[in-house]
Amino acid sequence: MDLAGRTALVTGANRGLGRHFAEQLIKRGATVYAGARNPASVDLPGAVPIALDVTDPESVAAAARATSGVSILINNAGSFTGASLADGSLEDIRLEMDTHYFGTLLVTRAFAPQLAEHDESAVLNVLSVLSWVTRPGFSAYAAAKSAAWSLTSALRIELAGQGTGVSALHVGFLDTDMVGHVDAPKSDPAVIAALALDGVEAGEPEIVADDRSRAVQSRLSGGVAALYPRSA
Ligand SMILES: NC(=O)c1ccc[n+]([C@@H]2O[C@H](COP(=O)([O-])OP(=O)(O)OC[C@H]3O[C@@H](n4cnc5c(N)ncnc54)[C@H](OP(=O)(O)O)[C@@H]3O)[C@@H](O)[C@H]2O)c1
Repeated sequence: MDLAGRTALVTGANRGLGRHFAEQLIKRGATVYAGARNPASVDLPGAVPIALDVTDPESVAAAARATSGVSILINNAGSFTGASLADGSLEDIRLEMDTHYFGTLLVTRAFAPQLAEHDESAVLNVLSVLSWVTRPGFSAYAAAKSAAWSLTSALRIELAGQGTGVSALHVGFLDTDMVGHVDAPKSDPAVIAALALDGVEAGEPEIVADDRSRAVQSRLSGGVAALYPRSA
């Protein structure tokens, strides 16, 4: 599917990976609504800022009313609290679910009618290698990304009838604010945004964007022993 001439909406487009998505969509010839909790923080020339808090049903509904013609939806907005499931704050654990799972669900449902107006349309859900594997300090986030992975599979089936393709992006650490505290190799978010948009253009349902994600994906069939050798 050619992105040129399309209208896209990117959530969390004011910074990080989302800003790269918005910038590259514009370069590829799309009109871009840049969703942000604070639309005044959108500094991207050519983007149309739109107020959008993915955890707030009123905000999501208002954004859908204020836009038109969207045929590409990128569910990118994300939170990271660092909460662990065994002893982390329930408020943080709920925030991760509200953002990654319910946020993606709410936004996709709100924009599904606009997507349906086109013969061909696309949703890209920004997931993570942590949809597939978990670790302490990341476990509330990982659980929410796992839920969003299942959601992505369901939406792919449920929206196929209206011509909407649904893709997942799996990737490990990116060089953004979210993991500024993490000392580990990180991918360039500009490179990952380009790979993901190439995947959407090619209609790929699953975009596995880095070596870490490919390695974990290859171990899934090995079960606990392959994924968590120290726990098996
Ligand atoms: N960084 C990584 O290592 C990594 C790895 C794999 C996947 N991801 C995923 O990539 C996506 C982008 O993350 P990033 O690395 O670019 O993080 P980031 O730099 O921290 O940016 C997060 C973005 O999400 C927005 N956001 C957070 N909660 C929101 C809400 N309730 N409603 C609307 N927008 C909201 C933020 O807006 P504000 O400016 O208002 O806070 C910001 O624009 C996320 O889904 C993340 O889980 C990141």
